[in-house]
Amino acid sequence: MTNFENPVATQPPVRLVSRSPEDTQRLGHIIGAVAQAGDIVLLNGPLGAGKTCLTQGIALGLGVSEGTSSPSFVLMREFAGRLPLYHMDLYRLEGAEINELGLDDYIFGQGLCVIEWAEKGSVLMPEEHLSISLDYAGNDQRIIEISASGNRYSTMMTKIASGRGAGNRDKD
Ligand SMILES: Nc1ncnc2c1ncn2[C@@H]1O[C@H](COP(=O)(O)OP(=O)(O)O)[C@@H](O)[C@H]1O
Ligand SMILES: [Mg+2]
Repeated sequence: MTNFENPVATQPPVRLVSRSPEDTQRLGHIIGAVAQAGDIVLLNGPLGAGKTCLTQGIALGLGVSEGTSSPSFVLMREFAGRLPLYHMDLYRLEGAEINELGLDDYIFGQGLCVIEWAEKGSVLMPEEHLSISLDYAGNDQRIIEISASGNRYSTMMTKIASGRGAGNRDKD
């Protein structure tokens, strides 16, 4: 089936249920462990859905020792791990401000870029990326949907899904 909205997508999204913040962090840890230099991970979903929590796991998976609190008051924070982690949050920004950030230096850099509220800057984002949306599913549960655009990210998504094992996979 052709996906006209996203012609480079090569695989259906992976849907997971997280049952706790630790569960979300564990997913992040796997993402950090499989990430390669220059990877782009776009995070979307409402406030409190767990984007920063997931990023904390990603940082741990990259071997970052410093804490990654929400960067909402800082536009971009860089952390040293196995690869540099560039953590951005576009929540407080509007169109023109986002254009002026100079995001390209990071997006086309040699680290792992994790961008919260990425859809606010969607026109600046590369066509190929891993996209993760998080949403509330009652109490401490979150639905997490991972989609890949481009072969590189399809491979990454397969590694993430297999790294996570069958244990918490949501069955349709
Ligand atoms: N399954 C879950 N995954 C992630 N966070 C959860 C989960 N259940 C409860 N939470 C809580 O939701 C909040 C998520 O906050 P945060 O990661 O800062 O969200 P965001 O960055 O999307 O605004 C935290 O207080 C966390 O403890
Ligand atoms: Mg956040």
